[in-house]
Amino acid sequence: MSAESFNDIGACVFDAYGTLFDVNAAAAHCQEELGDRWQPLAEMWRLKQLQYTWLRGLMGRHTDFWQVTGDALDYAMESLGLSDNALREWLMDLYLSLDAYPEVKNVLTTLKSSGFKTAILSNGSPKMLDAAVANAGIGDVLDAILTVEDVGVFKPHPSVYQMGVEHLGLPADQMSFQSSNAWDAAAASAFGYRVVWINRFGQARERIPEPPHAEITTLDGLPAIVGAA
Ligand code: LAC
Repeated sequence: MSAESFNDIGACVFDAYGTLFDVNAAAAHCQEELGDRWQPLAEMWRLKQLQYTWLRGLMGRHTDFWQVTGDALDYAMESLGLSDNALREWLMDLYLSLDAYPEVKNVLTTLKSSGFKTAILSNGSPKMLDAAVANAGIGDVLDAILTVEDVGVFKPHPSVYQMGVEHLGLPADQMSFQSSNAWDAAAASAFGYRVVWINRFGQARERIPEPPHAEITTLDGLPAIVGAA
């Protein structure tokens, strides 16, 4: 880790899904109904959701993340032989109130009380992000909730990362960007942010350009990196 990269940070910008909110939580809450298919469903749902964002971006066919999330769930359920409308609706409802990871609220509170600006920068639609933030009780420790719906294209398009610069009023290299999604971390690094990869799942490094400036396993280590603790 190169701590000197984080000397002059004024804001911390967070990816939402997988970084603040547990994307596997919806399927995990339906373990009784899904049995041993809950994990394959969670994995395929997330993978397809991301693929559809990238494909739609390249195709120039944007729709919002709620639609993409539903399309991905439909694909995953059909692939696993699940045909149950009530279960589908329940899973989508649960996606609106995904559990935040346990350290999230404390870390945001520490950053805010140390004078850092904080923001979410996410593919999520306004409805999804507002619901997740309210459910986690973190609205009062966030300065901004930035959604790709304002630019009409998903990550990793550079115009998404530009929103952070515009809304927080700092150059990208004075902001730390946190994501558990290594491809998102790489794209933010390419844009110019100081990047912390939250490698929650012990994944191998992606073989794409622009590695993160630091890597930790939960957000607990972030305040020390940016000098807030
Ligand atoms: C997001 C996805 C990439 O929140 O996790 O933007």
